[in-house]
Amino acid sequence: MRDKLMQARWQRRDAGDEVLTPFRDVTQYNNFYEFGPQKGDPACHAGNWQPQPWSLWVDGEVARPGRLPLDELLAPYRLQERIYRLRCVEGWSMVIPWLGFPLRDLLERVQPSSHARYVRFESVVDAENMPGVRSGFSLLEWPYREGLHLDEAAHPLTFMAVGLYGRSLPGQNGAPLRLVVPWKYGFKSIKSIVRISFLRERPLTTWESMAPQEYGFYANVNPHVDHPRWSQARERRLPGRLFAPNVIDTRLFNGYEEVAGLYSNMDLRVNY
Ligand code: MTE
Repeated sequence: MRDKLMQARWQRRDAGDEVLTPFRDVTQYNNFYEFGPQKGDPACHAGNWQPQPWSLWVDGEVARPGRLPLDELLAPYRLQERIYRLRCVEGWSMVIPWLGFPLRDLLERVQPSSHARYVRFESVVDAENMPGVRSGFSLLEWPYREGLHLDEAAHPLTFMAVGLYGRSLPGQNGAPLRLVVPWKYGFKSIKSIVRISFLRERPLTTWESMAPQEYGFYANVNPHVDHPRWSQARERRLPGRLFAPNVIDTRLFNGYEEVAGLYSNMDLRVNY
């Protein structure tokens, strides 16, 4: 893993006209409810959380199900750096240099069957180290679950991250393995994944099961479809200062228009 990170570090691509969000903000302002509901809770409780050994279970409609220890999972890949915008449904955003590999490379390896139409992802549940999981007051049920249509999972932008800023993922950002889907609201980018299942039917995801009228399955970033309780037209690009919030227009698909073809037959107001 260390060698892979060193190799990838020298491949950093230009962020274009985007300014990278400082490492400090990327790793101190987080949503990871297993570690608590406040933005500082994950850094506080997960900073030293590097669970070892880690394995990923692959099951369901797939030719090669089974358990993949992390080293085995990463062995065939040369890690890439991807600089992506991350737009949270709450209205803030960041620009983060991730390290990892495209999810489609894993799909090719495990070979979903012709019956597979959806992919479900599940996070780890580690009550001993996760105060949010132990808490009786959490809004969410564990494990945290997410899902994608198989075509979305196979899109070249869909990424499995194992690092950021040239180093392995900090606990608070979803160590050791997380999803990054840059054209969708951040809650789709599930952290600390232990299981990937290939399904015939659309899975029920954590946020959809909690408030379906607020958090849809697709969750594509869309400035024209407001959250029932707030506008999605603009966003606060972090870091901002109290009297100088850095507010910018939100872009359809978070600016990744190349994914539009995935939804050409869909009413995005209905399938939000
Ligand atoms: N994954 C798990 N397992 N638990 C969570 O609470 N929060 C989601 C997503 N993945 C979450 C999760 C939300 S709401 C967002 S915005 C992003 O992680 C935040 O990622 P970051 O903290 O690395 O910026």
